[in-house]
Amino acid sequence: MINNSRPVLFFDSGIGGLTIFREARIIIPKRRFIYIVDDAAFPYGLWKGEALRQRLSDLFSRLLKKYNPLLCVIACNTASTLALDELRAAFPDYNFVGTVPAIKPAAERSRSGLVSVLATFGTIRRACTHSLIAAHAGRCLFSLVGSGKLSIVAEAYLRGEAVDSKIICAEILPCFIEQNGKYTDIIVLACTHYPFLITLFRKFAPWPVDWLEPSAAIAHRIHSLLPPCENDSGSDEDIAFFISGQIDCATRRLFHAFGLKCNSLPDFLDFARINT
Ligand code: DGL
Repeated sequence: MINNSRPVLFFDSGIGGLTIFREARIIIPKRRFIYIVDDAAFPYGLWKGEALRQRLSDLFSRLLKKYNPLLCVIACNTASTLALDELRAAFPDYNFVGTVPAIKPAAERSRSGLVSVLATFGTIRRACTHSLIAAHAGRCLFSLVGSGKLSIVAEAYLRGEAVDSKIICAEILPCFIEQNGKYTDIIVLACTHYPFLITLFRKFAPWPVDWLEPSAAIAHRIHSLLPPCENDSGSDEDIAFFISGQIDCATRRLFHAFGLKCNSLPDFLDFARINT
């Protein structure tokens, strides 16, 4: 069955958006979803702000024309903290849902008052992240911990490759702080890739903490913004489009497990060549 209804468009540099996608799929079974993977530019966390901002703006001006989505889900903290406001301003006819560090709920829940935010270096640097802390930290002390490796490790781990436990330990350890007899009790996972590594994080954590990640909350937000769906389009397959145009077997199988068929975007090949 061909379904021409306007889709909900998910967007990330890689597999991270699947953490939100899977939650949204459960509570929104009838809508058509597409998932754009800007894998040619992965990892976003290492990009300079201005270059990434320009890329996101160029990509969205084409994606919106091509798919005319009902709603865009920027399922990426690095992109949202950098460019969500600008995308909203540049494309006012479209609705955007972003993903930003869950600072407020973390501050509300922490008992020790010591909270860490684990994210890409890009997200850690952004003014948006710092304003959220200034607005909502309250009595809590927030430590920002940047990682250049964890999103890459998550991509490999989900495709069945071996993961070096030393990398996991080294990347998460700075999140664990002891101060005046108090201990970090909440770590905000502020990169959508990280929930896929949670079993390893728990295994190598020096003490138990709450790992806070917002995918279920974002799925509910998406649901609340969509008008009721009359047609049952459940028989249609969701599609993930890869900007690089290169999709290996492990990737196909992985996305298939999330109900997504993989495809390339031949008319976006100019975005597949990255000049860094
Ligand atoms: N999934 C992304 C995020 O939430 C970005 C990972 C990356 O490309 O570095 O920040």
